[in-house]
Amino acid sequence: MSEHFRVEGGARLVGEVEVVGAKNSVLKLMAAALLAEGTTTITNCPEILDVPLMADVLRSLGCGVDVDGDTVTITTPAELNHHADSASMGKLRASVCVLGPLVGRCKRAVVALPGGDAIGSRPLDMHQSGLRQLGASSSIEHGCVVAEAEDLRGAQIWLDFPSVGATENILMAAVLANGTTVIDNAAREPEIVDLCTMLAQMGAKIEGAGTSTLTVHGVRSLQPTRHRVIGDRIVGATWGFAAAVTRGALTVRGVDPHHLDLVLDKLRMAGAEVATLEDGFRVVMDSRPRAVDFVTLPYPGFATDLQPFAIALAAVADGTSMITENLFESRFRFIEEMVRLGADARTDGHHAVIRGVERLSSAPVWASDIRAGVGLVLAGLCAQGVTEVWDVFHIDRGYPRFVENMARLGATIHRIAAPPER
Ligand code: UD1
Repeated sequence: MSEHFRVEGGARLVGEVEVVGAKNSVLKLMAAALLAEGTTTITNCPEILDVPLMADVLRSLGCGVDVDGDTVTITTPAELNHHADSASMGKLRASVCVLGPLVGRCKRAVVALPGGDAIGSRPLDMHQSGLRQLGASSSIEHGCVVAEAEDLRGAQIWLDFPSVGATENILMAAVLANGTTVIDNAAREPEIVDLCTMLAQMGAKIEGAGTSTLTVHGVRSLQPTRHRVIGDRIVGATWGFAAAVTRGALTVRGVDPHHLDLVLDKLRMAGAEVATLEDGFRVVMDSRPRAVDFVTLPYPGFATDLQPFAIALAAVADGTSMITENLFESRFRFIEEMVRLGADARTDGHHAVIRGVERLSSAPVWASDIRAGVGLVLAGLCAQGVTEVWDVFHIDRGYPRFVENMARLGATIHRIAAPPER
């Protein structure tokens, strides 16, 4: 039986919270360290479960990895093992990001299919197609992506969709390819920009970071570097929503507020007073939130990872909200749990219509992924009574010191340890 959180309803979150490095950046930066022989140091890393899991993946490839507080040091050998099949591969999605660097450096890779959040079918066709266009063969065999190339050569690649993972893998293979690669319809997420910044520090030649056209001039080799991870905009936004749903007042630091322009605007539409700061923002909500519609899209659209928080907000808002999910079809599984908490919500799988209620009511609920887990905690804070949120290991994968931060800001929340196995 897993651990669970007991969340008391009725708290108003007030205070200041510091956000550290982005989960969806650090894991890719760790993979990028495979591209250069020597010691790469990454700072401002979040102390979350996924970081040691990714460290295990890199160790299985022959790297020395030291995780010390917020600093991860990776020593990459001259000869890498190109077979990534450690048990940790199946526990996180980002493990697939070793594919591009391994193909780039070793010209071959056998990478176990990744795990991660069960938020919908997560195919790798665009990753594979991009590598094929760079001259590698790619197939799925015995649960692994197998890719091999005599030589990688630059190519013009059009992505069907601005996939974050496919952009990262193709980019990390292309930096060591012969000639120039152009990735069109590339993802523009700040985490991709962060990866481009670190790769450039390592000696890669990349133009267009943050735009939908990335041009990569391949180089023969890269050098290790030291890099600070950007602040986690998803965790930052989580606190923004937490202030809005609990009618609280939170100052959030450690994140670039421009990564959250659209999110902060939505919170304003919901009635919050929002101020941007140099290194964060402040959200104050004095009254019941107003209903707001949300549509998830690739960056700079509204992030799909924030959709559960939008639903939590809509559930207690004054009026009816429509939430449209365009990326991951199973994220709306979250709604079943919200209904247990008394939300008036219906979905056809692509859209959800939510009529806000004055007050949710507590119930036992189950987290199906990282963001859904946190969304349930936010909803529990607005519910009458004590809500039990189960399967909180998901939350530990993405939110450092979550319970401690919540409690410090005024929530009554306790982690209840699992009973010892008999
Ligand atoms: C990353 C993030 C995840 C976030 C998502 C979208 C990490 C570890 N995870 O996931 O938190 O929700 O970006 O912002 O960084 N697709 C295909 N074929 C492919 C690749 C993707 O059809 O080859 C589809 C997916 O099913 C999905 C959409 O493209 O519908 C977007 O996926 P993608 O951007 O690749 O997300 P991830 O990189 O998996």
